[in-house]
Amino acid sequence: MNILLLGSGGREHALAWKMRQSKALARLLVAPGNAGTASLGENVDVDPNNFAAVKDVALKNAVDMVVVGPEEPLVRGVFDYFANDGELRHIPVIGPSKRGAMLEGSKDFAKQFMAKYGIPTARYRSFTRGSMAEGFAFLESLRPPYVLKADGLAAGKGVLILDSLGEAKAQLEEMLNGMFGESSRTVVVEEFLSGTELSVFALSDGKSYKILPEAKDYKRIGEGDTGLNTGGMGSVSPVPFATPEFMEKVRTRIVEPTIRGLQAEQIIYRGFLFFGLICVDGEPMVIEYNVRMGDPETESVMLRLDADLVDLLDGVARGNLSERACAVSPQAAAAVVCVSGGYPGSYKKGIAISGLEKVQGSVAFHAGTKASGAKVETAGGRVLVISSLADALPQALEKSYAEAAKVEYEGKYFRRDIGRDVLAAAGV
Ligand code: AMP
Ligand code: GLY
Repeated sequence: MNILLLGSGGREHALAWKMRQSKALARLLVAPGNAGTASLGENVDVDPNNFAAVKDVALKNAVDMVVVGPEEPLVRGVFDYFANDGELRHIPVIGPSKRGAMLEGSKDFAKQFMAKYGIPTARYRSFTRGSMAEGFAFLESLRPPYVLKADGLAAGKGVLILDSLGEAKAQLEEMLNGMFGESSRTVVVEEFLSGTELSVFALSDGKSYKILPEAKDYKRIGEGDTGLNTGGMGSVSPVPFATPEFMEKVRTRIVEPTIRGLQAEQIIYRGFLFFGLICVDGEPMVIEYNVRMGDPETESVMLRLDADLVDLLDGVARGNLSERACAVSPQAAAAVVCVSGGYPGSYKKGIAISGLEKVQGSVAFHAGTKASGAKVETAGGRVLVISSLADALPQALEKSYAEAAKVEYEGKYFRRDIGRDVLAAAGV
């Protein structure tokens, strides 16, 4: 099978790495990919949001399946673009239809969906410019801190958490007046939930589903979860507090009702579904849906997936996922992200990376890298994701840190406390 994978980050390198292990994979094309994916397949210099260019690549290379990494092409309707084009219709796209992608593309849609199907989430209301006064009144009815969310995609920056009522009102007004452009024409105001977050992933063919290994990611730049938000500084899997009892609650109260709800709404959903959850006093609640895999969670999740990913995706495409095997390794995975100096602020690109060949027994997934002749150089804020599998989490972390130390580039930074909180909570 020839597969075209859309995207260019650590998530895509990890998906490519896992797919490459399958005997069923012939050619792998990655658009646009990075220096890591180039070693597993062929990078093609195409923007995943340029559907006409994606079509061209798919047809010229006899692609049998398109796997979509990031959310943006999905929210823009790449699934429907293929389904509605006579020349492309035969090529399955792994990812939801445009309506399904609204679970991530519109927070208001996602909240309405959860309310309709009784899926536990924070109490909320949505407002537009015309209902700003009601928005202020709703804020007055809540206790601090206040959570404001731009309805649409805002490059991960659309959520504000504010301590004072005055600030919350001022920010609501700014958001509704276009702080995030079109994305904040509608704003979801919701109750703040206090607890520990985790990411749960499912793969669905629209009827049945497989729950993939859960993971926890680390979003802040600084150790002890301090400083600015990033695209993710590390991940671990499994998550010690996600006990079988807890995961059973996730399955029956969240995953099942979501799949059934999509069916009831006649929304076509054949792809990955990411549940951003928070554990509040032992009970799972949904913070957000994403319609793709997480990054850097995928790097940990793929290490623990004891299955043929291409076979699973073929099951999604053919609608017989329930007949495919999907086991999970009992081992633990830890992924440590090495970033560029200055990230998430401004940083330099094009810095030479050395020592990649010294990484052994772990996988150095590439995130922001570019091949420059025979050399590899930095090309983004998050550069490499050093990922390891071991019998238990402390060993997986130790291994990732040992290997991360071998890679060098000017300005390299990584957090040294990935996983420490969950180990402390579990008494390790
Ligand atoms: P989101 O973009 O919806 O994932 O929100 C970004 C981050 O804001 C989440 O990962 C949480 O850490 C936090 N957050 C969002 N909604 C809430 C909430 N209702 N209560 C507490 N924290 C939240
Ligand atoms: N790691 C969170 C995300 O991918 O959105």
